[in-house]
Amino acid sequence: MPVSDPAAEAVGPLVRGLAVLRAVTAAGGRRSAGDLVRDTGLARSTVDRVLSTLERLEYVRIDGRDAVLAPPVMELGNAYLAASRLPALLGPAADRLADALDESVSIAVPDGDGARFVHQAPRRRAMSVAFGVGDLLPAECGAMGALLAVDWTEADWARWRERRAADPDLRGFPVAPPGAAGAAASFTERVAAARRTGWALDDQLIEPGLVALALPVRGPAGRACAVSVVSHTSRHTAGSLRDAMLPRLRETVAEMERIWAEDEARSGGAEREPTGTAERARESKLALGPEFLQSLARGLGVLAAFDGHRPEPTLAVLAQATGLPRATVRRCLLTLAHLGYVTVRDGRFRPAPRVLDLGFAPLNGLTLPRIARPHLARLVDRVRDSASMAVLDGDDIRYVARVPTVRIMSVEITVGTRFPAYATSMGRALLAGLPEPERAGRLARAELRPLTRRTVTSPERLAALLDRIAHDGYALVEEELEEGLRSIAVPVRDRDGRVVAAVNVSSHAGRRSAEEALAAVLPPLREAAVAIERDLHVAGRFVRVPVG
Ligand code: PHB
Repeated sequence: MPVSDPAAEAVGPLVRGLAVLRAVTAAGGRRSAGDLVRDTGLARSTVDRVLSTLERLEYVRIDGRDAVLAPPVMELGNAYLAASRLPALLGPAADRLADALDESVSIAVPDGDGARFVHQAPRRRAMSVAFGVGDLLPAECGAMGALLAVDWTEADWARWRERRAADPDLRGFPVAPPGAAGAAASFTERVAAARRTGWALDDQLIEPGLVALALPVRGPAGRACAVSVVSHTSRHTAGSLRDAMLPRLRETVAEMERIWAEDEARSGGAEREPTGTAERARESKLALGPEFLQSLARGLGVLAAFDGHRPEPTLAVLAQATGLPRATVRRCLLTLAHLGYVTVRDGRFRPAPRVLDLGFAPLNGLTLPRIARPHLARLVDRVRDSASMAVLDGDDIRYVARVPTVRIMSVEITVGTRFPAYATSMGRALLAGLPEPERAGRLARAELRPLTRRTVTSPERLAALLDRIAHDGYALVEEELEEGLRSIAVPVRDRDGRVVAAVNVSSHAGRRSAEEALAAVLPPLREAAVAIERDLHVAGRFVRVPVG
C-alpha cells in the first residue's frame, strides 16, 4: 500500500473514537464524559459525539454521567482473536494440559513490551490475582515476558527502558499487581537465562505464592507465543514445578507447534459473510444526524470484519465483507495501522493484539447475570412487572438475577432463592431444554409435591407439558407455586444452542386473563431473551462466561 503520510490521510473521527474507547478501557470499563475530556484532550462536544456513536453501536451504555462498556464491544477483540487463530488452534491443547495437570494454563502473545493473554484454562486458584483474556502484563513481570523478550532487538530494549523510566509504577498496566514493579531488577538476567535454557520461571515475581513455568511456542512466519503452567507454593516450589511439569509442557509445545505449522499451510479459504457495516452506518447517520460519526462506525466495522476464515484478508476482501468503498476501507486500514491496531504485510492485513485494549479486557470477567441485568431492567420498564433469571441447580431453580417491582409473593425473592423446578415457569423452560434422556431421568427422580391446589404432580402430565413448552418456546405457570401468582418464562441459550438459563416475568393472576398476559408479556420477554443471548454469544466466544 503506497503511503505518503499516514497521519495526513488518517480518518480523524476514527482516531478520536479509538482514543475514547481506549480511555474507557484503561479506566476499567466505566468513565464519565468529563473525565474522558481530560484523558483524551478532546473537546467536550467531540467526546459527546463519539459516545453517541458508540452507544448507537451498543459498544457502550450511558449510565447517568458515565459511559459503561457493553458486551457487544467485545466483537472487536473477538475479531483479533479469531484472525490470530491462536485460541482456536492452541487453546484445546492448553485445556487438555490443564485437565491433565489440574493446574491453570495460559497462552500469551508479545504485544509491545508486554505479554498479552489470549487464552486461559483456569483451575483451582489460591491466588488473588487472576488474569483474563485480553489482559496485558509488562514483560518484566511473570515468566512469559522473559521468554518473549528473547526475540527483542536493541530498539525493543530501548523502548522498554524508556517505558520503565516514564512509568516506574506500571500505571499503564491496570492488571499488574502493585508489587510487580520490583521484577524489573532481575529482568535482563532472566531473559539471558531463558535464552540459554529455553524456559522461564516466575518464582513469586507477581504475587507471593504464585509460581509459573513458561515455554515459547514458535509458529510460522516468525510468529511466537508463550504457554505457561501456573501453580501455588502450597503445591510446588518454583523448582519442583519445573522438574514436575517441564517434560509434559514440552510435549504440549511440540504438539502446538505442529498444529500451528499445519494450519498455516492450509490457510486461505471461505468467502466472508457480508457484515452489513455500510448499511448500518448509513441508517444510523440518517437517524442521529451530526451526533453520529459515520466514519468512526465504518472504521470499527472494518476492524470487526476480520475473522478466522481469512486470517490475512486483502483490501478487496474487507471491502466486499463490509460493503464499503475500497477507498474508505483503505483509509480506515491506514489509520488503524498507523495506531498499531493492524499490521500490513504484502498487501495483506492482520489485526494486532492491541485491539484487545478496545473494550475487551474489562469485560473478560463478565457473568451471565451481569449480562442479563440491564436487559431485565429494560423489560421491567416495559411490562411493569418483576423480571428474573434463574438456572437449574439440582432439582431446583436458583435465582441469579432479579429486577423487582411491587412484591406479589408471600416470600421475598432475592438472588440465591430456590424453588422446585417442576412447579415454576423458569424450571419448566429449563427442563424442557434438556436432552430427552436427562429430562425423563429427572422427572422419574423428582419428588412432585402439590404446593397449591393447582400444582401438576403427575409425571405423565408434566412430561407432556414439557414437550409442549419445548415446542412453543415458552412456559406459562398459573398458581402452581403460590396462589395468585402467574409466571411466564423463556429459555436463554448459549452459542452451542444449549439452554443455560431462563428469564421470566411474574404477575398477579387475577389482574387479567392468561391470554391477555401472554399477548402483553411474551413479545417483550422474548426480545429481552434474544438481547441477552446476543450479548452472551459475543462475550462467550473466547471467554468462559459463568452462568451464576
Ligand atoms: C497466569 O496465567 O495467571 C500467569 C502466567 C504466567 C505468570 C504468572 C501468571 O508468570
